[in-house]
Amino acid sequence: MTDKTSNQMWGGRFAAGPDAIMEAINASIGFDQRMAAQDIAGSRAHAAMLAATGIVSDKDAEAMREGLLTILSEIEEGKFAFSTALEDIHMNVEARLKEVIGEPAGRLHTGRSRNDQVATDFRLWVRDQVDAAIDGLQALMAALLDQAEAGADWVMPGFTHLQTAQPVTWGHHMMAYVEMFARDLSRFRDARVRMNESPLGAAALAGTSFPIDRQMTAEALGFDRPMANSLDAVSDRDFALEFLGASTICAMHLSRMAEELVIWSSAQFRFVTLSDRFSTGSSIMPQKKNPDAAELIRAKIGRIFGANVALTMVMKGLPLAYSKDMQEDKEQVFDAADNLMLALAAMTGMVSDMTANRASLEAAAGSGFSTATDLADWLVRALNMPFRDAHHVTGSLVAMAEKRGCDLPDLTLADMQSVHDKITDEVFGVLGVHNSVASRMSYGGTAPTRVREQVARWREVLA
Ligand code: ARG
Repeated sequence: MTDKTSNQMWGGRFAAGPDAIMEAINASIGFDQRMAAQDIAGSRAHAAMLAATGIVSDKDAEAMREGLLTILSEIEEGKFAFSTALEDIHMNVEARLKEVIGEPAGRLHTGRSRNDQVATDFRLWVRDQVDAAIDGLQALMAALLDQAEAGADWVMPGFTHLQTAQPVTWGHHMMAYVEMFARDLSRFRDARVRMNESPLGAAALAGTSFPIDRQMTAEALGFDRPMANSLDAVSDRDFALEFLGASTICAMHLSRMAEELVIWSSAQFRFVTLSDRFSTGSSIMPQKKNPDAAELIRAKIGRIFGANVALTMVMKGLPLAYSKDMQEDKEQVFDAADNLMLALAAMTGMVSDMTANRASLEAAAGSGFSTATDLADWLVRALNMPFRDAHHVTGSLVAMAEKRGCDLPDLTLADMQSVHDKITDEVFGVLGVHNSVASRMSYGGTAPTRVREQVARWREVLA
């Protein structure tokens, strides 16, 4: 006799139900209910295929279809009672289907296992997140393009080692992030192509003796094809790892940009003013306007990379095929996805709303001897000096200006000639920051002309 507390799915073999601790460690319904829509989509595809191949009757398949739709609306309306005893979303839905349609519900699991079911649900879920990330990145790139276009010829200091290096344009700096986020976009797209194969029909691990049509279920779920090896189909979580890998790099980019916004919005820099909508105040210091959104975005990489590491560790060393370890795949991915989407949306909002302070950018652009390289280049061009000698002469002039507490263009021609007598007043033409950036016309350079070309190119790509 079967204990009436034992499981309704596999109670036949069991004399007793699970210990409360066993139920607690075993259940995934607390989190995998997020895949309810995917689970029901997978079941509907499977049911339609079972009827098309004659494995179940059309009448039973129709009952399953209607029952599944009823359950979907129950879940969407928050009326579904999820049960921990039923362990996961797959068994919760199937048990409810039994209540709704009776006997035909018991035929739905023909030629299928929870192993291929969960692999299918999770792939569909991750694929949706990949699409959301692509949308989020496109919106962010559009916001950056607007900033770049507006300030294509605004000058600002370019930094290396966070020390003033050479003047660059605001537009060029914005476009650097467009390039970074475009690579993220292409990583998500690449991952999507690889993940878009259907595990459904792999069954427990070996395939099934029923004459199923995996092509049909794959197509119904928007997959390009069924996965070719049933062991691999139920064992693989590469799609989630690729999503986390792409998300990690994207979050790292977001973090770098967030860090720049934190620095730029400080009273010491004043390069940008963040909008009130994306700032917070202090409960004690009335003057404060804090870049909290940027700081939080800067921090998100922690949990996203953490998820990447955690899932990699779950998967390492697992023998084929399914192991219950793999139930530990979801929460990390859910959390990473939620936070990536939030970070992308917050960054897009901040970038759209922020004001670049053109005057502060320009004032900073000329300080810190930022046109020293232009001076050295001029010595090479105008006086045919070897670059190394020009570097040395320029270094002496920088030292002189530093001693006087002025910038390079503030030195007189006589000052310059005291270091090298061939210098003419033509040199002052290259010491202006606008001349400096305009001269950097090499492909990929900071000249406003080049920036505008890149803005136009990316607008076309995004359109
Ligand atoms: N809840 C399980 C998971 O998330 C579903 C698959 C269970 N399969 C099994 N053979 N126990 O991975």
